[in-house]
Amino acid sequence: RKRVRVHHLREMKERGHRWAMLTAYDMYTAATFDEAGIPVLLVGDSASNNVYGNDTTLPVTVDELLPLVRAVTRSAQHALVLADLPFGSYEASPDQCFHTAVRFVKEAGAHAVKIEGGDEITPHVELLARSGIPVMAHIGFTPQREHTLGGYRVQGRGEAAAALIATARELETAGAFALLLEMIPGELATQITRAVAIPTVGIGAGNGCDAQVLVWQDMAGLRTGRLPRFVKQYADLHATLVQAARDYAADVEAGTFPGPEHTF
Ligand code: KIV
Ligand code: NA
Repeated sequence: RKRVRVHHLREMKERGHRWAMLTAYDMYTAATFDEAGIPVLLVGDSASNNVYGNDTTLPVTVDELLPLVRAVTRSAQHALVLADLPFGSYEASPDQCFHTAVRFVKEAGAHAVKIEGGDEITPHVELLARSGIPVMAHIGFTPQREHTLGGYRVQGRGEAAAALIATARELETAGAFALLLEMIPGELATQITRAVAIPTVGIGAGNGCDAQVLVWQDMAGLRTGRLPRFVKQYADLHATLVQAARDYAADVEAGTFPGPEHTF
């Protein structure tokens, strides 16, 4: 298998072939999901929560994300590796956005970047696309703006729906290779997906999108506690690892590990 390119994603949309995206933040997750055939791996700013232990995505920095992107690009042989630009690293101007994106490409080997926003990021998308950096635009609920959006709330309800469709079209025209739709009504996501020729990737956006994304620790059950409604858990890694750690500790305490077969 060859490296996944943005044109492959567009062709999959034309063929009506849905695909799955996952986050990855390190070597083993990248290599494992790549082996599973996941075509796009997102090094999300969700690393803020899921790697660095913050409550939100706001604190994570470019310097904290770059090494994670580097690890994923080194480890994924086929997947397209998408780097999330963190809060504060791109919004001020297309110029700022360009320079941050270039760092992810040059220093970490990213194949594409993702930025959050609405029609105000159109010039940013335009500059990246013209400069040879594929860009995914993340619209709907944008976690980096939770303080202005008033917390985790479904976007695009009522009168806001038409505006979001217009924004999606504008970002497509600006040159985005795909749109990420987060926490919008399923019906609106279906309309946006039909309104644009580029792929849509949904999270909390229903079943009408071209692709779906989940944070891997949510998908694999490493995260505990109350999960968002849009998460489906496909494994219980938390229980598996707690049990493994307990079994190991018990063996050590009982003097049954290491055994002769582990001893030189
Ligand atoms: O950072 C992230 O994990 C995201 C999600 C929408 C998958 O942007
Ligand atoms: Na993100």
